[in-house]
Parts: sequence; structure tokens; C-alpha cells
Amino acid sequence: MNPLIERAAKVFPGGTSNGEFGLPPEQIVVMERGEGCRLWDSDGREFLDFSMGWGSCLVGHANPDVVEAVGKQVPQGSNFSYLNPHALAVAEEIARVAPAAERLRFCASGTEANIYCQRLAKGYTGKSKLLKFEGAYHGANEPGVTSLFPTQLLDFPEPELTSAGTPMAKFDLLVAPYNDLEIARKIVSEHAHELAAIIMEPLQRCTPPKEGYLEGIRSLCDEFGLLLVFDEVVTGFRLAYGGAQEYYGVIPDLVAYGKGLGGGYPIGAVAGRADIMNWFDEERIGSDNYVWMASTLGGNPISMAAANATLTVLRTPGTYERLHALGKYFRNSLARVLRDRQITGQVIGDGPLAQIVFSPDPVNDYRSTAKGDKERGRRMMLGLFERCVFLNPMGTKLYLSIAHDENVCDQFCERLDDIFSKSED
Ligand SMILES: Cc1ncc(COP(=O)(O)O)c(C=O)c1O
Repeated sequence: MNPLIERAAKVFPGGTSNGEFGLPPEQIVVMERGEGCRLWDSDGREFLDFSMGWGSCLVGHANPDVVEAVGKQVPQGSNFSYLNPHALAVAEEIARVAPAAERLRFCASGTEANIYCQRLAKGYTGKSKLLKFEGAYHGANEPGVTSLFPTQLLDFPEPELTSAGTPMAKFDLLVAPYNDLEIARKIVSEHAHELAAIIMEPLQRCTPPKEGYLEGIRSLCDEFGLLLVFDEVVTGFRLAYGGAQEYYGVIPDLVAYGKGLGGGYPIGAVAGRADIMNWFDEERIGSDNYVWMASTLGGNPISMAAANATLTVLRTPGTYERLHALGKYFRNSLARVLRDRQITGQVIGDGPLAQIVFSPDPVNDYRSTAKGDKERGRRMMLGLFERCVFLNPMGTKLYLSIAHDENVCDQFCERLDDIFSKSED
């Protein structure tokens, strides 16, 4: 066995450094290098990457413009925990393109950004509960991981704990099915007095909103005095330069950003309406209209230089047309592989995102996704991993980037077809 993997097994739970891959021990690899849409492991094997740092490397690994910008900043200091020119430029650019982002603050991850949105919503409204949608992920905070992979399928709006050690979620979280306005309205109307906000991924995982659904959720929030929080950690700068707000034309009150914005460097941003965001103003400390926010690595000049370069790359004319066209090509190619091998399944996603769900029925929400054959999904992901496609086998979500092309998608599909052609599946 590779000695690095033996060492990793002794020091990391599950043998891997930062969670979620859930690989069997014999399939664990150690990644050494990335370029474009490819990674190389410590044995020199080349992988096609369809995880892209869980979507954080939307502009590709070691993007030359990002490398140059970061390289210039590195000798000038990595963190002042204070305002710097790169942070200012990134904030101004986000405020320019995202209608909800009247004010911003930076932090170091999508989890952090979501925590601040949740706290602001509760502080500003003076109410203590949130409504989330079943199966949505909002980072590693308590509401973020609750009813994430529920198995008991309790009656709505009761939450199901996905993680031990998250007892408060039982008391301050309500759960609704995504894409069902009627149930959301019923829950909101019964609980409006205690609900601070609805928090949602506008495109939940890879499941698109039904026509009019996001508009309906926006109206519901307005009618019952709730804030609307968009978790744009995945959709931000990915579905459109202005994120899901621009893509779907629905404007939330608060937004969480992360992942793609940082070009692969640690980043998070919380943004929103000025009157809400101003609750972060330290002038207010000691009064009851103040919300605590402070992040040691938030807005650090390395991540901000990377974000500035990333946004410049993403602003290049044609980027989003290309990402959408490639996503469509990939999803169509995946669907063709399933069809040709007579395998029952759905290919879902939008923009540069795709997911295969082995279910005979259309997918609208968590429960329809959960009907899919999860064992088959896992076998497929592990089979791809074995064939040097790097991805996260805990789910079936796939990320493209500006470094992918049709040829790489074709290679993915050949490897997928090979799995289905074997007796293993
Ligand atoms: C929608 C969404 N929100 C929040 C997060 C958490 O971001 P981070 O891992 O940077 O804390 C993720 C991460 O996968 C995510 O997909």
C-alpha cells in the first residue's frame, strides 16, 4: 500500500483530511497536483476532475490569472484581518452585479457566510426559527446539516437530525419539501410569528425550481414578514455572473457566497439589504440592534486577490454561454449513455452542474431524489473513481468548470459506459 495512505489512515478519521468522500480504504488516493480540469495523485496517475474542489475551482485548477494575482500578493503579506484594496474591489464588483448585495462582509467559508445570514435574520426580525427545505445543505452549521439525508421521512415541518451534536435544530428549525408552494404556505402561515426567514438553495443541489416557485417563496416571505435568504454558495457566479438572483430574477434579502468566488482559495461572503447588514456595524455594540460578525481570515488579501482575478476571468464575454452549453452537452451525453444501456434514471442539473439519479420518476425534491437507487449511484461513482475520474462518491453531483470541454465530457461518458457494460452493473 502507498505509505502516504497508511499514514493518513492513522491520523484522519476515515483516512481523508477534510470530510465527506467516504471512500473505501483501498480506493483512497493522495492528490498532489492540479491543472485545468485534471489532477495527479502521488503515484503519478492522472484523473479527470468532476469535483473541482467541490465546485470551488470554477475557473480551473491553477488558473494562470489566479496564480499570477496570488503570486503578486504572497510576498506582501497574507492576512491583516483588515480592509485591503483587493477586498474593496471584490466587494464593489459583487455589489455592482448582485442586486441583493447592497452591503457585504467577508468570511472564510460558505458555512460561516450561512451562519451570519441565519444570525442576522434572527436578530433583525427578533424571531427565533428558520424554515429550510429538506435535503438542502447550508454548510456545517446546525440548520445546514439537519434533514440533509433524512431516512425516517417525518411529517413536515419536523426536522430530522442528520448529525449527532446538533440538538438545537430540533427547536429552532422547521422543514418543508422543496418545490411545493402549498406546503410552504401552510407551514409559514401557521408559524409566521416565530419564523425569521426562509433559507434556501435557489437551485437545490441539482434540482431546479419549478416555474414560478422562487417568485412564490419571495411573495410568501413578503406576505408574512419573513426574510428570504439565498444560499448562493454553489449558484453564485456559476449560473450567471450575478448568480441565481440574476438567473432566476428573484431578489433575496440576504445572500451567502463562497466556493467559486474564491477561485479555489478560502472565501465566504455575506451580503444583503443595507438596513439589515448595518446590524453588523460595531458602532451598535451594546444596543439590541447589533449582530456579532468577525472572521480572522475573512477578506484576507490572498483570497481577495484570487477572487478579483477569478471575477475578471468569469467576466470574459461568452463565459456563461459556454458553461451553459457545456453543461447541456454533458447532461445530454449522460442521458444518452443511460438510454443506450437501457438504464432507468434521470439526469438533472443546470448550468455547469449535473447529477444522475437512478429513479424512474421525475425529480422535484429530496423525497423524489431519495427514491433513486442509491446503491447503484454509489457503485457508479466508485466505478468512475476506479477509472480515474475524480469525484465525491458520497453523492452523485458533478461539477464542470471553464477548463472542461466536450472532449473531457466524452471521456467521462466512455468510462461511465464501460461501467454499465460490465457485469458489475
Ligand atoms: C449550498 C452550500 N452551502 C454552503 C456550503 C458550505 O460551504 P463551505 O464548505 O465552504 O463551508 C456548501 C458546501 O458544499 C454548499 O454546497
